[in-house]
Amino acid sequence: MSAFHRETVTSVQHWTDTLFSFRATRDTSFRFQNGQFAMIGLEVDGKPLLRAYSMASANHEEELEFFSIKVPDGPLTSRLQKIKEGDTILVARKAVGTLVTDSLLPGKRLLMLSTGTGLAPFASLIKDPEVYDQYEQVVLVHGCRQVSELAYGERLVERLQKDELFGELMKDKFTYYPTVTREPFRNRGRITDLIESGQIFKDLGQGPLDIATDRIMLCGSPAMLEDLKNMFEKRDFLEGSGNKPGHFVIEKAFVER
Ligand code: A2P
Repeated sequence: MSAFHRETVTSVQHWTDTLFSFRATRDTSFRFQNGQFAMIGLEVDGKPLLRAYSMASANHEEELEFFSIKVPDGPLTSRLQKIKEGDTILVARKAVGTLVTDSLLPGKRLLMLSTGTGLAPFASLIKDPEVYDQYEQVVLVHGCRQVSELAYGERLVERLQKDELFGELMKDKFTYYPTVTREPFRNRGRITDLIESGQIFKDLGQGPLDIATDRIMLCGSPAMLEDLKNMFEKRDFLEGSGNKPGHFVIEKAFVER
Protein backbone atom coordinates (compact mmCIF):
# COMPACT_ATOMS: atom_id res chain seq x y z
CA MET A 1 0.00 0.00 0.00
CA SER A 2 1.31 3.45 -0.89
CA ALA A 3 2.26 5.78 1.98
CA PHE A 4 0.14 8.58 0.57
CA HIS A 5 -3.16 9.36 -1.10
CA ARG A 6 -3.49 11.18 -4.40
CA GLU A 7 -5.90 14.08 -3.95
CA THR A 8 -7.38 16.57 -6.39
CA VAL A 9 -6.98 20.31 -5.90
CA THR A 10 -10.42 21.94 -5.73
CA SER A 11 -9.42 25.62 -5.31
CA VAL A 12 -6.39 27.86 -4.93
CA GLN A 13 -6.26 31.38 -3.51
CA HIS A 14 -3.24 33.68 -3.66
CA TRP A 15 -3.09 36.14 -0.76
CA THR A 16 0.22 37.94 -1.36
CA ASP A 17 3.40 37.42 -3.40
CA THR A 18 4.55 35.05 -0.68
CA LEU A 19 1.37 33.40 0.65
CA PHE A 20 -1.33 31.17 -0.81
CA SER A 21 -3.87 28.64 0.35
CA PHE A 22 -5.50 25.72 -1.40
CA ARG A 23 -8.15 23.10 -0.88
CA ALA A 24 -8.14 19.48 -2.00
CA THR A 25 -10.27 16.38 -1.82
CA ARG A 26 -9.84 14.22 1.30
CA ASP A 27 -9.74 10.46 1.30
CA THR A 28 -12.43 9.18 3.63
CA SER A 29 -9.83 7.08 5.48
CA PHE A 30 -7.59 10.10 6.26
CA ARG A 31 -8.08 10.91 9.95
CA PHE A 32 -6.38 13.60 11.96
CA GLN A 33 -6.69 15.59 15.16
CA ASN A 34 -7.24 19.32 14.68
CA GLY A 35 -3.84 21.05 14.94
CA GLN A 36 -1.87 18.14 13.43
CA PHE A 37 0.25 18.06 10.27
CA ALA A 38 1.01 15.59 7.48
CA MET A 39 3.63 15.29 4.75
CA ILE A 40 2.16 16.59 1.52
CA GLY A 41 3.54 17.53 -1.87
CA LEU A 42 3.86 16.69 -5.53
CA GLU A 43 5.23 13.95 -7.69
CA VAL A 44 8.35 15.34 -9.39
CA ASP A 45 10.23 13.27 -11.98
CA GLY A 46 8.31 10.20 -10.82
CA LYS A 47 9.28 10.70 -7.17
CA PRO A 48 7.31 12.15 -4.27
CA LEU A 49 8.58 15.57 -3.10
CA LEU A 50 7.00 16.14 0.29
CA ARG A 51 7.10 18.69 3.13
CA ALA A 52 5.27 18.92 6.45
CA TYR A 53 2.06 20.96 6.30
CA SER A 54 -0.43 21.58 9.07
CA MET A 55 -4.02 20.97 8.10
CA ALA A 56 -5.77 24.36 8.13
CA SER A 57 -9.13 22.62 7.74
CA ALA A 58 -10.83 20.94 10.68
CA ASN A 59 -11.33 17.20 10.85
CA HIS A 60 -15.10 17.56 10.47
CA GLU A 61 -14.66 19.17 7.02
CA GLU A 62 -15.03 17.14 3.89
CA GLU A 63 -12.08 18.77 2.10
CA LEU A 64 -8.51 19.49 3.18
CA GLU A 65 -7.09 23.01 3.31
CA PHE A 66 -3.47 24.16 3.52
CA PHE A 67 -1.86 27.60 3.98
CA SER A 68 1.58 27.94 2.42
CA ILE A 69 4.49 30.25 1.93
CA LYS A 70 5.97 30.62 -1.59
CA VAL A 71 9.75 30.27 -1.63
CA PRO A 72 11.01 31.29 -5.11
CA ASP A 73 13.78 28.67 -5.19
CA GLY A 74 12.11 26.26 -2.74
CA PRO A 75 12.15 22.73 -4.19
CA LEU A 76 8.48 22.16 -3.38
CA THR A 77 6.82 25.59 -3.11
CA SER A 78 8.34 26.95 -6.34
CA ARG A 79 6.19 24.24 -7.98
CA LEU A 80 3.31 24.01 -5.52
CA GLN A 81 2.47 27.73 -5.90
CA LYS A 82 1.56 27.00 -9.55
CA ILE A 83 -1.05 24.32 -8.79
CA LYS A 84 -4.51 24.76 -10.25
CA GLU A 85 -7.94 23.27 -9.73
CA GLY A 86 -7.88 19.68 -11.01
CA ASP A 87 -4.16 19.07 -10.31
CA THR A 88 -3.03 16.16 -8.15
CA ILE A 89 -1.26 16.49 -4.81
CA LEU A 90 0.09 13.77 -2.54
CA VAL A 91 -1.03 13.56 1.08
CA ALA A 92 0.61 11.11 3.50
CA ARG A 93 -1.78 8.69 5.15
CA LYS A 94 -0.54 9.50 8.63
CA ALA A 95 -1.03 12.78 10.51
CA VAL A 96 1.10 13.73 13.52
CA GLY A 97 1.82 16.73 15.73
CA THR A 98 1.97 18.22 19.19
CA LEU A 99 -0.56 21.06 19.02
CA VAL A 100 -3.39 19.07 20.52
CA THR A 101 -5.36 19.95 23.62
CA ASP A 102 -4.64 16.47 25.09
CA SER A 103 -1.04 17.59 25.69
CA LEU A 104 -2.20 20.48 27.87
CA LEU A 105 -3.27 20.45 31.51
CA PRO A 106 -6.83 21.64 32.11
CA GLY A 107 -7.05 25.43 31.99
CA LYS A 108 -9.37 28.36 31.47
CA ARG A 109 -7.72 30.48 28.76
CA LEU A 110 -6.11 29.03 25.65
CA LEU A 111 -3.54 31.31 24.00
CA MET A 112 -2.72 30.35 20.42
CA LEU A 113 0.43 32.26 19.46
CA SER A 114 1.53 32.22 15.81
CA THR A 115 3.68 34.04 13.29
CA GLY A 116 3.50 33.76 9.49
CA THR A 117 2.18 30.43 8.21
CA GLY A 118 2.31 29.21 11.82
CA LEU A 119 -1.33 30.30 11.77
CA ALA A 120 -2.33 27.13 9.87
CA PRO A 121 -2.83 24.65 12.75
CA PHE A 122 -4.89 27.28 14.59
CA ALA A 123 -7.09 27.76 11.55
CA SER A 124 -8.02 24.13 12.17
CA LEU A 125 -8.29 24.36 15.96
CA ILE A 126 -10.58 27.41 15.99
CA LYS A 127 -13.02 25.30 13.93
CA ASP A 128 -13.07 22.62 16.63
CA PRO A 129 -16.21 22.91 18.78
CA GLU A 130 -14.46 20.96 21.58
CA VAL A 131 -11.94 23.75 22.04
CA TYR A 132 -14.80 26.05 23.05
CA ASP A 133 -16.09 23.39 25.46
CA GLN A 134 -12.69 23.01 27.09
CA TYR A 135 -11.81 26.69 27.56
CA GLU A 136 -13.58 29.79 28.82
CA GLN A 137 -11.43 32.06 26.67
CA VAL A 138 -9.69 31.34 23.37
CA VAL A 139 -7.23 33.96 22.07
CA LEU A 140 -5.71 33.69 18.60
CA VAL A 141 -2.61 35.86 18.12
CA HIS A 142 -1.07 36.20 14.67
CA GLY A 143 2.12 38.20 14.15
CA CYS A 144 3.26 39.25 10.69
CA ARG A 145 5.64 41.77 9.16
CA GLN A 146 3.01 43.36 6.90
CA VAL A 147 -0.73 43.98 7.13
CA SER A 148 -1.34 42.15 3.82
CA GLU A 149 -0.03 38.93 5.39
CA LEU A 150 -2.92 38.92 7.85
CA ALA A 151 -5.59 38.56 5.14
CA TYR A 152 -6.02 34.79 5.24
CA GLY A 153 -6.54 34.81 9.02
CA GLU A 154 -8.76 37.88 9.00
CA ARG A 155 -11.03 36.37 6.36
CA LEU A 156 -11.24 33.07 8.19
CA VAL A 157 -12.14 34.66 11.52
CA GLU A 158 -14.76 36.89 9.88
CA ARG A 159 -16.34 33.91 8.16
CA LEU A 160 -16.46 31.83 11.33
CA GLN A 161 -17.92 34.65 13.39
CA LYS A 162 -20.75 34.95 10.85
CA ASP A 163 -21.34 31.20 10.80
CA GLU A 164 -24.50 30.09 12.56
CA LEU A 165 -22.86 27.40 14.72
CA PHE A 166 -19.43 28.95 15.30
CA GLY A 167 -20.71 32.49 15.71
CA GLU A 168 -22.62 31.30 18.75
CA LEU A 169 -19.73 29.21 20.17
CA MET A 170 -17.21 32.02 19.72
CA LYS A 171 -19.36 34.97 20.75
CA ASP A 172 -18.26 35.34 24.37
CA LYS A 173 -15.08 33.27 24.22
CA PHE A 174 -12.98 34.02 21.21
CA THR A 175 -10.67 36.96 20.55
CA TYR A 176 -8.47 37.51 17.55
CA TYR A 177 -5.34 39.62 18.00
CA PRO A 178 -3.42 40.31 14.79
CA THR A 179 -0.18 42.26 15.20
CA VAL A 180 2.20 43.77 12.65
CA THR A 181 5.87 44.66 13.06
CA ARG A 182 6.97 46.54 9.96
CA GLU A 183 4.21 49.00 9.10
CA PRO A 184 1.45 50.93 10.87
CA PHE A 185 -1.49 48.89 12.22
CA ARG A 186 -3.84 49.03 15.21
CA ASN A 187 -1.70 46.42 17.08
CA ARG A 188 2.03 46.67 16.68
CA GLY A 189 5.03 44.70 17.86
CA ARG A 190 6.41 41.21 18.31
CA ILE A 191 4.38 38.70 20.33
CA THR A 192 7.30 38.30 22.75
CA ASP A 193 7.34 42.03 23.57
CA LEU A 194 3.55 42.27 23.73
CA ILE A 195 3.43 39.49 26.34
CA GLU A 196 6.49 40.66 28.26
CA SER A 197 5.05 44.16 28.61
CA GLY A 198 1.52 42.91 29.24
CA GLN A 199 0.29 45.22 26.46
CA ILE A 200 -1.61 42.43 24.72
CA PHE A 201 -3.71 41.67 27.81
CA LYS A 202 -4.44 45.36 28.31
CA ASP A 203 -5.55 45.62 24.67
CA LEU A 204 -7.75 42.53 25.05
CA GLY A 205 -9.22 43.78 28.30
CA GLN A 206 -8.25 40.48 29.95
CA GLY A 207 -6.23 39.48 33.01
CA PRO A 208 -2.42 39.08 32.92
CA LEU A 209 -0.59 35.85 32.17
CA ASP A 210 -1.42 33.29 34.88
CA ILE A 211 0.09 29.82 35.11
CA ALA A 212 -2.94 28.55 37.04
CA THR A 213 -5.33 29.20 34.18
CA ASP A 214 -3.38 29.91 30.94
CA ARG A 215 -2.54 27.18 28.47
CA ILE A 216 -0.47 28.02 25.42
CA MET A 217 0.10 26.68 21.93
CA LEU A 218 2.99 28.07 19.87
CA CYS A 219 3.62 27.84 16.14
CA GLY A 220 6.07 30.04 14.26
CA SER A 221 9.68 30.48 13.20
CA PRO A 222 12.45 28.74 15.19
CA ALA A 223 13.56 32.11 16.64
CA MET A 224 10.05 33.02 17.78
CA LEU A 225 9.57 29.59 19.36
CA GLU A 226 12.91 29.72 21.15
CA ASP A 227 12.23 33.18 22.61
CA LEU A 228 8.70 32.37 23.72
CA LYS A 229 9.69 29.00 25.18
CA ASN A 230 12.43 30.70 27.25
CA MET A 231 10.02 33.39 28.34
CA PHE A 232 7.40 30.89 29.53
CA GLU A 233 9.96 28.57 31.16
CA LYS A 234 11.31 31.52 33.13
CA ARG A 235 7.78 31.83 34.50
CA ASP A 236 7.74 28.09 35.45
CA PHE A 237 5.46 27.00 32.58
CA LEU A 238 6.28 23.41 31.53
CA GLU A 239 6.23 22.05 28.00
CA GLY A 240 3.64 19.31 27.60
CA SER A 241 3.63 16.16 25.49
CA GLY A 242 1.24 13.34 24.73
CA ASN A 243 2.21 11.29 27.80
CA LYS A 244 2.85 14.27 30.12
CA PRO A 245 0.51 17.22 29.69
CA GLY A 246 1.95 20.65 30.52
CA HIS A 247 1.25 24.36 30.31
CA PHE A 248 2.40 24.87 26.71
CA VAL A 249 3.06 22.96 23.49
CA ILE A 250 5.19 23.86 20.47
CA GLU A 251 5.16 23.23 16.73
CA LYS A 252 7.61 24.60 14.21
CA ALA A 253 6.04 26.47 11.29
CA PHE A 254 7.74 24.71 8.44
CA VAL A 255 9.37 27.27 6.19
CA GLU A 256 12.25 25.55 4.39
CA ARG A 257 10.26 24.46 1.43
P1 A2P B 1 10.07 41.36 12.94
O1 A2P B 1 9.48 42.08 11.78
O2 A2P B 1 10.40 42.27 14.09
O3 A2P B 1 11.23 40.46 12.57
P2 A2P B 1 9.20 36.11 9.78
O4 A2P B 1 8.49 36.36 8.49
O5 A2P B 1 10.60 36.61 9.83
O6 A2P B 1 9.05 34.72 10.32
O7 A2P B 1 8.43 37.03 10.84
C1 A2P B 1 7.07 36.93 11.08
C2 A2P B 1 6.75 37.79 12.28
O8 A2P B 1 7.40 37.22 13.43
C3 A2P B 1 7.29 39.21 12.15
O9 A2P B 1 6.34 40.09 12.67
C4 A2P B 1 8.55 39.18 12.98
O10 A2P B 1 8.90 40.42 13.55
C5 A2P B 1 8.15 38.23 14.08
N1 A2P B 1 9.33 37.62 14.73
C6 A2P B 1 10.51 37.28 14.18
N2 A2P B 1 11.35 36.75 15.09
C7 A2P B 1 10.68 36.77 16.26
C8 A2P B 1 11.02 36.36 17.59
N3 A2P B 1 12.21 35.85 17.88
N4 A2P B 1 10.09 36.51 18.54
C9 A2P B 1 8.87 37.04 18.25
N5 A2P B 1 8.49 37.45 17.03
C10 A2P B 1 9.39 37.31 16.03
